[in-house]
Amino acid sequence: MSGSPERPDRCDLGGRVGPAAHIVLIGFMAAGKSVVGRELAARRRLRFTDTDQLVAQHHGPIPEIFAARGECGFREVEARTVASALAEKVPGVISLGGGAVLDTGTQQLLRRATVVFLDTDLETVLPRIIRSGNRPMLAGDPARRWEELAKARRPVYESLADITIDTRGLTVPAVIDRLTPFLNEGA
Ligand code: S3P
Repeated sequence: MSGSPERPDRCDLGGRVGPAAHIVLIGFMAAGKSVVGRELAARRRLRFTDTDQLVAQHHGPIPEIFAARGECGFREVEARTVASALAEKVPGVISLGGGAVLDTGTQQLLRRATVVFLDTDLETVLPRIIRSGNRPMLAGDPARRWEELAKARRPVYESLADITIDTRGLTVPAVIDRLTPFLNEGA
């Protein structure tokens, strides 16, 4: 039950796992938070919320929000959307956009959740970020931007995570198989 030798899976649940806690997936852009979240929720028979999807539903496509209101405008909408998802009484699985955890209010709210950091690297996500092409934060040179943001954000993800899974080389079901024992530990 460990990741690769240089990046072992880590787990300190601090008493947060249990029926009352949301499971929140955080991590770099294109790490697979949405696809893992949807599948995890289905397996655990929990409701699934993708906050990027909610933002788009209520405010229009994310690239258009960035174009009209800039990054700060997007972060404001994002923080409100994340707060409302976390306020939902019935516990579920929630996947956050890669930059959502930069908001200090969101960081406070995450203390009540079980936070899972899906770790990855550029090599793994590169085909995805090139294919999708709809991430304003990666405009210009997507690979270089991804690496810059990843370097800056890694300490934030690590500090918020109760559980870290090295997803490199793993299929979605394999990520969930690796995560499940940690989640069941405190239940
Ligand atoms: C962002 C990540 C995106 C989306 C927006 C900004 C970021 O979500 O919220 O484009 O700043 O990391 P994904 O992490 O799902 O790509």
